[in-house]
Amino acid sequence: MTDRYAVIGNPISHSKSPLIHGLFAEATGQDMHYATILGATIPGGFAHAVDAFRADGGRGLNVTVPFKTDAFAYATELSPDAQLAGAVNALKFEGDRVQGQNFDGIGLVRDVQRNLGVSIAGRRVLLLGAGGATRGALLPLARAGAAAIVIANRTAEKAHALAQAFGPHAGGAAVQGCGLGALEDQVFDIVFNATSASLSAELPVISPSVFAPGALAYDLVYGKGLTPFLHLARGAGCAQVVDGVGMLAEQAAEAFEWWRGVRPDTSDVIARLTVPLA
Ligand code: ATR
Repeated sequence: MTDRYAVIGNPISHSKSPLIHGLFAEATGQDMHYATILGATIPGGFAHAVDAFRADGGRGLNVTVPFKTDAFAYATELSPDAQLAGAVNALKFEGDRVQGQNFDGIGLVRDVQRNLGVSIAGRRVLLLGAGGATRGALLPLARAGAAAIVIANRTAEKAHALAQAFGPHAGGAAVQGCGLGALEDQVFDIVFNATSASLSAELPVISPSVFAPGALAYDLVYGKGLTPFLHLARGAGCAQVVDGVGMLAEQAAEAFEWWRGVRPDTSDVIARLTVPLA
């Protein structure tokens, strides 16, 4: 029988996951079916939909907005990344076991290092935002050997609190939290925009002086063109200015390998989904 997978979210019709996993399955010869599930945003709506999917023989799910914390609560086993992020973006079902993973940060790091050819080891990294996207990226960035990780947020207290909570897990990385305005005299090799500002074409208010010469500027959003953040970075002379298409493909590849035991190549998917920044 064909193994069944799906992505659950609300809304869900825009999701690229069916296309991505369909291409992966074809390229690797895996006999699987991948669907979309529109979850109900009522109390218990997520668990009800997932129970039904499992009862129907579903093997795994990708989880997107707004259900990543519901998936965290639903899982019976959590990876360290999911635990620290407080969010789950992939589930695997084996009998009564429900394993929860968060591959967003792993996908981000893999895109930066393998696809963009930028080493994170020894680098000074700035993360803008202190929400779910930043939480998911912290542990993978520390594992990749970042020398310093600064979390800067519009609401400074949230950045302080996150830096404090993350500090003990950061390995050798120096971790600091601050407000956006406190970055004036600091310079970074890699700057990630992990705020939701780009979704509404807004700009986290930062000085262009945060970008080191030859820096990488990375907006975690996908398909929004040259966001105000990327526009600022380009004007500041960054060597590479990219959006999150590679992260999207790589987190999907991580989930695919976790489910199927086969690593798909992402280059075709990235080429298909890349939208020019203009
Ligand atoms: P996500 O899960 O996508 O990270 P979130 O948890 O709601 O979403 O977090 C959104 C992040 O984007 C927050 O860090 C938010 O800053 P505040 O904590 O100050 O609200 C940040 N953000 C959203 N719009 C922003 C803007 N226009 N400028 C700067 N930061 C913004």
